[in-house]
Amino acid sequence: YDYDLLVVGSANADLVIGVERRPAAGETVLGSDLVVHPGGKGANQAVAAARLGARTALLARVGDDAHGRLLLDSQREAGVDTVGVLVGGAPTGVALITVDPSGDNSIVVSPGANGRLTPEDVRAAGSLFQASRVVSAQLEVPLESVAEAVRHLADGGRFVLNPSPPQALPAEVLAACDPLIVNEHEARVIAGTELGERPEDWAEALLALGPRSVVITLGARGALVAERAGARVRVPSVPVAAVDTTGAGDAFTAALAWRLGLGESLAQAAGYAARVGAAAVTRPGAQESFPTAEEVAAL
Ligand code: RIB
Ligand code: NA
Repeated sequence: YDYDLLVVGSANADLVIGVERRPAAGETVLGSDLVVHPGGKGANQAVAAARLGARTALLARVGDDAHGRLLLDSQREAGVDTVGVLVGGAPTGVALITVDPSGDNSIVVSPGANGRLTPEDVRAAGSLFQASRVVSAQLEVPLESVAEAVRHLADGGRFVLNPSPPQALPAEVLAACDPLIVNEHEARVIAGTELGERPEDWAEALLALGPRSVVITLGARGALVAERAGARVRVPSVPVAAVDTTGAGDAFTAALAWRLGLGESLAQAAGYAARVGAAAVTRPGAQESFPTAEEVAAL
């Protein structure tokens, strides 16, 4: 394989304002100066993996505009192969983000060019899929394009999905996931039924939908990994002081996908990914906050 990881997904300009608290409907609040960061769940994953040392490519679409150039620059600086980044068709995606004093964020995404990453674009990138050990996707690009991606996996290739923002998934996509990576909210939407309070039960409900494995991220409570044919394992979180959680989930997913490709078990890879995600929340922004392998080792 030429690439450890091919990320299929979104690239957004993140317009970030710090707030004391979020406004209610009809209310105006004043916030900090605006900061523009390169973001988007796909672009974030690609940068996270490349910074850790993974040979990484990104399949995405940006606009022919300043935000698109910001995103391409940040990919190239991190060492991501951008041969699969298509340009034009709509303005670059934008995420309007507020970050509160606890480091939590709220995000509204305007998909823009991400919404124009078509199944034909995915088909045309077939050689990238054949050259990639692991393919990772999210849902800020059209679901039919993600479904097309699973049809192009290399022989022995592995597919990892973080269904964010969540929607019901076709059986074909679910069956390819190894793992499906969800938080509580995503688990509830994907399962589409009443889930109780125990993550172990959510894992069973999700596995019944067809994925080979499931990872449920539980914030400060760590993560639960469950394989169809294997054990259920709790992976502890790494306690850190959160500054900005934006993109930490993307860094977790990218690290997990990369380590699986290296041959680690799901529990081992999730343990490593937890440290990558923890490092990312200690610094502002998404891509700029992702650690190198040396920084992870020092944690
Ligand atoms: O997961 C974080 C990302 O979600 C941000 O970078 C923003 O662009 C949104 O896509
Ligand atoms: Na961060």
